[in-house]
Formats: sequence, C-alpha cells, structure tokens
Amino acid sequence: MRHESPQPATDPCRDANRADLALRYQSVRRQTRTLAAPLSPEDCQAQSMPDASPAKWHLAHVTWFFETFVLEPFEPGFKPFNPAFRALYNSYYNGVGEQFARHRRGLVTRPDLAEVWRWHEQIDERVVRLISHTDSLDALRLIEMGLHHEQQHQELLLTDIKHLLSINPLSPVYQRAWPLVPVAPVPARWIEREGGLTEIGHHGEGFSFDNESPRHRQWMEPHALMNSGWTSCATAATPTHAGGSPPAGTGCARKAFVRRCTGRSPKTPTPCPPCSPCTATCRWIRTRRWCT
Ligand SMILES: [Fe+2]
Repeated sequence: MRHESPQPATDPCRDANRADLALRYQSVRRQTRTLAAPLSPEDCQAQSMPDASPAKWHLAHVTWFFETFVLEPFEPGFKPFNPAFRALYNSYYNGVGEQFARHRRGLVTRPDLAEVWRWHEQIDERVVRLISHTDSLDALRLIEMGLHHEQQHQELLLTDIKHLLSINPLSPVYQRAWPLVPVAPVPARWIEREGGLTEIGHHGEGFSFDNESPRHRQWMEPHALMNSGWTSCATAATPTHAGGSPPAGTGCARKAFVRRCTGRSPKTPTPCPPCSPCTATCRWIRTRRWCT
C-alpha cells in the first residue's frame, strides 16, 4: 500500500501543530483500544478465514507501522521492542523485508495479547516523545499517515471480528451496548445529479491516499446518491442484530427500518431507490424485502 501526503501549507513543526498531532495520535490509538475492549483474548486470537486477520494481528500491525516507519528511522538510539516482530507483523511491504503468510496469522499464539498491548503502550510513549522533539517534517508526516493507516485497520478489525462472531452457533455479539456513539437517524433521500464533465479526486492540502489523486476530469452519466451512509440505526433493524433469533417474517424489521431511517410511516410503501444497477446495500436491503 502506498500513500501520499501533500505538502501542508502550515509548518508541522510549529508547537501548536505538534500539540495537535500528539492529541490526534492519542485519540486514534485510544479508539483502537476502545474497539478492542469488548473482545476476549480468545476472540482476538482466532482467524475466521484466510482473507480475514485476527484482531490481535491488527492490533500488533498498527503498532508495527509506527515502530518500523517512524521510530526506526527517526528516533535517536532506536531499539526495537522485539526484532522478530518486524517480519511477523509486516503485511505486504516488500521494502521492509520478509512477511508472515496472511492465511496463517491465526496460528501465531505468541506473543500473547498482553505482550501486544505492552508493545502498544511502549510505542505510544516513544512516538509522543518524538512528536515533541523531532525536527523532521518527514517523521511528522509519516505519523499522520500512520494514523490514517490505523483508522483503516480499525474498520478491518470490526469487519473481521464480526465475520468471526457470525459463524459461532452461539450467536455472540460484539457489543451489547449499541450504538457505540450517539447516532441521529437521517431521513433518507436521494440526491440526483445531471451528470456531465466534472472533476474528481482529492482537492486541498489535507491528507489523502494515493488512489484519491491526481485530481482529473471525468464524464459522469446522470446518477443519484443517497444522502447518508449505512448507519447503525439501519443495522439495528436487521433481523439478526444483537445475536437474537430473527423475528418471524421480515415485516417487523422492515417497519422498524422504515420508521428509524426514513421517518416515514411503515404503511407508506418505501420505494426502492432508483438505482440500476443497484448498490450492494440496496441489493442487500431488497433481498430482505425491506424495499417494495
Ligand atoms: Fe496495514
């Protein structure tokens, strides 16, 4: 994976920007710990399929990123937490060297989860210290990149753990208290666009991934997009949510979905969004007969 971070207009070495980066670093890392909090060590160890990774691997790999790409080149007197982790938690970065096979990640029972957390804490202390002392713009930009990388893995951690739990016949739940953050239902509506020649791609000075640039012109056919993404309020209406038995039929789930997410009466037919071909979400909804 390759990322690009454009030159910021402001000097990242300014004290205010360093402080802001340190706060964001601590916030993202704290969010990773929060996401892992409902999981047992056994949950974190298991790998449900070759395309998924154990939660413990995600937790270790995001720390690996900061140790390998930030501390190793920029920390004075750098010493790895454990030299063997360099290959063990390398995903696909050929420039770093050896990688452990993804489909066997669930077999790596050592280090245990406690040691991965100790590594996590130690690297946090060292990165925060580096943020306050380094004169290297590259180091600060790599830390920014590492935070976006970690947020990608937060999504992957949830995706993979939900798949793991989904195949357990006991129907365990990831988190009984849901949603994790307050979510206000947004009445769903479609935003129609006429199409034509437009510009797409990253615009501005902020961080972007390489697949968001270069900005370029693109011909767009007339289309419509929904005004909001898939939210937990919609997920809450799924028959299998919370690990319980699906309700008889799908009528209750459909009514709950309509009420929570559109604010419309369940008696009012909910038109299937005018998308042809349908989005994956739309197909998913329709297969459950929530759209008429
Ligand atoms: Fe990664």
